[in-house]
Amino acid sequence: MNSVITGNFRPAFFPGQLNENSAQFLFRVRPFTTAASRRISPAKIRAFSTIFIETKPTAPVAAEKEDSGGASGLACPICYDPLTRISDSPLYVGETIGSNLQCNTCKKSYFGNQTHLDLVASSGSKQYDESMPLATELFRTPVVSFLYERGWRQNFIFGGFPGPEKEFDMAKNYLKPVLGGNIVDASCGSGMFTRLFANSGLFSQVTALDYSENMLRQCYEFIEKEENFPKEKVALVRADISRLPFKSSSVDAVHAGAALHCWPSPSTAVAEISRVLRPGGVFVATTYILDGPFAFLPFLRTFRENIMGIAGSQIFLSERELEDLCRTCGLVGFTCMRNGMFVMISARKRSN
Ligand SMILES: C[S@@+](CC[C@H](N)C(=O)[O-])C[C@H]1O[C@@H](n2cnc3c(N)ncnc32)[C@H](O)[C@@H]1O
Repeated sequence: MNSVITGNFRPAFFPGQLNENSAQFLFRVRPFTTAASRRISPAKIRAFSTIFIETKPTAPVAAEKEDSGGASGLACPICYDPLTRISDSPLYVGETIGSNLQCNTCKKSYFGNQTHLDLVASSGSKQYDESMPLATELFRTPVVSFLYERGWRQNFIFGGFPGPEKEFDMAKNYLKPVLGGNIVDASCGSGMFTRLFANSGLFSQVTALDYSENMLRQCYEFIEKEENFPKEKVALVRADISRLPFKSSSVDAVHAGAALHCWPSPSTAVAEISRVLRPGGVFVATTYILDGPFAFLPFLRTFRENIMGIAGSQIFLSERELEDLCRTCGLVGFTCMRNGMFVMISARKRSN
């Protein structure tokens, strides 16, 4: 039987320093772990503007060595029991057509098509069709999926996003403790970061996950166009961020670029991310931040989804809310780096 995991890769190169690109942006950087840090004056914050605060490095987390159940850590999105591979098809990108995974508890089968494995709870349903909030449904359309990497994503620069390469460099800094392990690129879209993670050779396995079939198709097509792409290290999976198809404590890192504000329930999503992360595992994400009325007038938050619904149901949280969200979902060592409406946050699963 084939295995998706191709070995416990550990890079000789261990990038500990940020490059000069990262320092070009005037970020406000705060660890947000102590009350004292909150009392820091704006002038002092600016003085720290090009310093990166690191989470305390934990020992590198080993990649999973065995393909347990034949499906390398994949679990049933209904009961979270491990999935067993029925067919001999490998699960990596380009090889998923005809793959068949089974949950021996639910007695449910999950299948792969040409582009991805379908691991949403409703997969295989005949009559029932899920309708998600607009921020999720928008990216399921063929036109938005097609345009995403052909102009749509580039516009994020106006909100303060530095651009994929620089965001990747910044994320790598937070991912140092888990290099050599496996990473989930959650809500991968057309796979910009998936490709960067895979081509970097810094991770043993990259799972690109999105709810949108059309985004996954784009992701597949971009990968197909790349020469010498390490396909055997990459799996494309359709899944809902609120129901991740991974065993608990099986993932070394979760990256989520520009996605948190699109998730139907950020707390359910971050709770899921916390569940699947190993102790010491790292969550790093970018999103739009808004310290607007919802941050200061708590009673308005009850209506936030309805008010934001008019603007596409995206949920922009404040710094305090993002920190609280991570903490309340069991993640520690929150850090936050801002530029305009752009924010990169990181937190890690508490080590045992
Ligand atoms: C703005 S795109 C971000 C794509 C990419 N990560 C990036 O950095 O450009 C947001 C992505 O979130 C995905 N998404 C929205 N709701 C989701 C859900 N419930 N589960 C998984 N992915 C979801 C969308 O399909 C879309 O691909």
